Amino acid sequence: MKTDRVHVPLGSRAYDVVIGRGLIAQSGQMIAPFLHRSRVPVLTETRVAAAHLDALMAGLATAGIDSTALTLPPGEGTKGWNGLQHAVEWLLDEKVERRDVVVALGGGVIGDLGGFASAVLRRGVRFVQIPTSLLAQVDSSVGGKTGINTRHGKNLVGAFHQPALVLADIDVLASLPRRDFLAGYGEVVKYGLLGDAAFFDWLERNGPAMAGGDTSLRHYAVHRSVQMKAEIVARDETEQGDRALLNLGHTFCHALEAATGYGERLLHGEGVAIGCALAFELSARMGLCAQETPGRVRAHLRQMGMATDLADIAGDLPPPEGLIALMGQDKKVQDGRLRFILARDIGAAFVCDDVPADLLHAVLADALASRG
Ligand code: GLY
Repeated sequence: MKTDRVHVPLGSRAYDVVIGRGLIAQSGQMIAPFLHRSRVPVLTETRVAAAHLDALMAGLATAGIDSTALTLPPGEGTKGWNGLQHAVEWLLDEKVERRDVVVALGGGVIGDLGGFASAVLRRGVRFVQIPTSLLAQVDSSVGGKTGINTRHGKNLVGAFHQPALVLADIDVLASLPRRDFLAGYGEVVKYGLLGDAAFFDWLERNGPAMAGGDTSLRHYAVHRSVQMKAEIVARDETEQGDRALLNLGHTFCHALEAATGYGERLLHGEGVAIGCALAFELSARMGLCAQETPGRVRAHLRQMGMATDLADIAGDLPPPEGLIALMGQDKKVQDGRLRFILARDIGAAFVCDDVPADLLHAVLADALASRG
């Protein structure tokens, strides 16, 4: 599959997501049209820098673009007030001006931090996302959600600030550890489950070969995921309605992440996959979807070798009421009511604010009991 573009039609904030192979090497010619002067600051982190920073700087140099880089520590800890201060002060040290463009090279942490630093620097400078994880390519680099974590929770301080361009280089996925790739796949499968049954069928047929390294299958999966995200974001940029569908699996996921300490015990995408399976289980218990549908969702996750059930999370978990209390701290709570994305079928998700408390409790109790 050749390089292609998904347009995110947001009027004066519209942009393209370019998807293809070898894009880091071509970054100079792709970014040059956005520049007023041939100089860009790059925000990245140490693991990504070791794998891709030299190639990016060389790619920029082919178009005569000078670059400097700030390499931050990897991990969620960077995405806080200290990381933000470090990034913004460095951008000011580098004399970044209002018409300059910041480049964020990395996964979700660097994309969210770099985007937010760009949103507040000189009241807003443009930025280019070069996502290096599958999760960032299909989800966090597209749609303009930027921000940092505080001691009160994840992503509680931020801004909607759309990138000027996203370069999703399929080749960088080859350097991801399998666990990280599969965690990102949790967000890919989410798109099929929430709105495209044919895409879910395609994933059932092609997911294993894609995880095995087939680049044209990876390209199609990233393309279709980005296309779906772009359509939803274009309808509802600031999450007043349909954008909430992108949170399929996330109410469960956030409780599980909070219970496991937001770390290696459970990666975000793993929590999304388990959360999607639980959302379908809850939908079936509420009589919304066929009784066999949750089994089909779980079978695909199992086929991929992914975390699927609560039994796949090591260590203790709180009882159902503890998990429900953690859900109550989620920022999607409205007027004290939990908000779930449920489904009438694969590819037919909708927002539900009135889940019966006893059914939610029963789904969690059964899922915890299956841990043995
Ligand atoms: N990751 C969900 C969203 O961008 O709305």
